[in-house]
Amino acid sequence: MRIILAPMEGVLDHLMRNILTEIGDYDLCVTEFIRVVDQLLPEKVFYRTCPELKYNGKTNSGTPVRVQLLGQNPDYLSENALRAIELGSQGIDLNFGCPSPTVNKNKGGAILLKEPETIYKIIKSVRDAIPKGNILSAKIRLGFEDKERALDVAHAVESAGANELTVHARTKLEGYKPPAHWDWIGKIKEKVNIPVIANGEIWSFDDYDKCKALSNCSDFMVGRGALAMPNLSQVLKLNIPPLEWNNIYDLLIKYSKQEIYGDKDKYYPNRIKQWLRYLKIQYPEADELFTAIRRLKKSTEIIDIINKTQQSNKPTVT
Ligand SMILES: Cc1cc2nc3c(=O)[nH]c(=O)nc-3n(C[C@H](O)[C@H](O)[C@H](O)COP(=O)(O)O)c2cc1C
Repeated sequence: MRIILAPMEGVLDHLMRNILTEIGDYDLCVTEFIRVVDQLLPEKVFYRTCPELKYNGKTNSGTPVRVQLLGQNPDYLSENALRAIELGSQGIDLNFGCPSPTVNKNKGGAILLKEPETIYKIIKSVRDAIPKGNILSAKIRLGFEDKERALDVAHAVESAGANELTVHARTKLEGYKPPAHWDWIGKIKEKVNIPVIANGEIWSFDDYDKCKALSNCSDFMVGRGALAMPNLSQVLKLNIPPLEWNNIYDLLIKYSKQEIYGDKDKYYPNRIKQWLRYLKIQYPEADELFTAIRRLKKSTEIIDIINKTQQSNKPTVT
C-alpha cells in the first residue's frame, strides 16, 4: 500500500512537503505543476518548484519527490521531462486534470481528456525521451464534461507506455464538488494493467476504506485531507487517531520558523492562513486561531499570536 502526497499548486510547496513528510509516512510527493509552453525551461524554474532536486529529489525526511509537468506540446514536454530527470526528479508526472480556464484555453490540463489521441502522443514522446528506469505517471480526471471517454483515456495512458495512472475521480465540470466517484476508478482499474492510484475526497480512515472497496486500489493520493489532518498517511496506514491539537501547534510553529526565499512577509501570512483554512475542517480550534490572525499582515505579528495562544492552550502542570 502506498500513500502519495498530491500536487497542489500554490499550497503544497517544498516547505509544506517537508512538514508533512516528516510526521507522515508518505511514499512519494508530486510537485505543483510546471507549465511547459514553447521552450526548454531554465534550470532555475525546476529548482524553484522543486528545491528538493538539490538533495537527490528527496524531502528532508527522505521522501522521493516527482516533478509534475503540464502542457500540450509533446516535443517541449519531452525536453523538459528529460531536464527534470537529469536534475534529479524521481520520475515524471504529467498533468491531464487541471481545470483552470486559462490552461484549458491553451489546450493544456483537463481539456486534453477530450482527446485521448493527443494524450497518447504526449506520453509516448515523453516515455521515449526519458531513460527506461524512470517512472512516468499520468494524472487524469474522469473526463471534461462527462465520463464517456474515461476508459479510452486510461487505455491511451497505458498503451503509450506510462508506468502509473492517478485518477482524480471527478470530471472537470464536477470541479471539487463531492462525491468523488470511486467506483469509476474501479472500472478503470479493471481495464488497465498498470498500477492505478485512487484520488479524491479521502479525508479519514473511513473514506479510505470505502474508496479501497469501490476502487479496488492499493495506492492512494491525498491532497486537501493531508492539510486538514497532518498525520493522515499514518491514520490511513495504521488506523490510528488524528494528532491532538497541541501537536498541530508544534507543527504550525515549526512551519513558521522556516525561512522563505528571504521575503517572509510576502509569502508566509497567506500560506499560514491558507493552511488554517484546511485545518479548520478537522480542528475547531484552528477556527479561533484563524480569526485571531485573519487581519494580520506581518509574519512577526502572526508568529507572536501563535506562540501566545499555544502557551495558553498548554495543560497546566500542578
Ligand atoms: C488548491 C489546489 C491546487 C491543485 N493543484 C494541482 C496541481 O498542481 N496538479 C494536479 O495534478 N492537481 C492539482 N490539484 C488537484 C489535487 O492534486 C487533487 O487531485 C484534488 O485536490 C483531489 O484530491 P483531494 O480530495 O485529496 O484533495 C489541486 C487541487 C487544489 C485544491
